[in-house]
Amino acid sequence: MSIVKTYKAQQFDLSALNGISDQTLEMHFKLYEGYVTNTNTLTEKIAEFLADGKVDQEEMPAYSELTRRLGFEYNGMVLHEYYFGNMKKGSTATDPENNSSFRRLAEASFGSYEIWKADFMSVGKMRGVGWAVCNQDPEGQRLSNHWITLHEVGNVAGFVPALVMDVWEHAYLLDYKPADRPKYIEAFFSNIDWAAVEGRLVQTAQARTAATEGQ
Ligand SMILES: [Fe+2]
Repeated sequence: MSIVKTYKAQQFDLSALNGISDQTLEMHFKLYEGYVTNTNTLTEKIAEFLADGKVDQEEMPAYSELTRRLGFEYNGMVLHEYYFGNMKKGSTATDPENNSSFRRLAEASFGSYEIWKADFMSVGKMRGVGWAVCNQDPEGQRLSNHWITLHEVGNVAGFVPALVMDVWEHAYLLDYKPADRPKYIEAFFSNIDWAAVEGRLVQTAQARTAATEGQ
């Protein structure tokens, strides 16, 4: 059976970020590698149970536990890919450009970009281990910010993650004190690749398709 995912940390050129050390990134990539490995291993083990075409009663407890863990590992892998993918080194823009799709959608969804940002940053400051995610509803295109507990509780099915911020402790504890999570969040904003965020938006994708069709 083919593997589900391959480790692709080499795609992310993320050394020398502002306020997020290379050691932190190294640790992050190591954890991400674990999620990729575990996603593949769990998928394989679940397939073994199903090799005879059914899950027997006595297999049910082990099968259930592996399947529950699959949600954790899978989302841990995918969210890290979104997180790495929406940062870049050498970023000079803390906020999206005035005429950008993201800013317009944030204004339409929240009243102003500043309110969107206050919401997203506040989600990131929530106590607990997890993620702050700005999702886009593919139907209607509205943006909404969400707290994800661990990796798998709170994801909205079918929504498109536009901006993803890791707020597990490993994301900032080497660089900041536990109480200084807000400083990490400020640093995160100074590394955002807004072009990558824009590229994830449904509106951008539709405009791209329309432009291609119009050629
Ligand atoms: Fe992480």
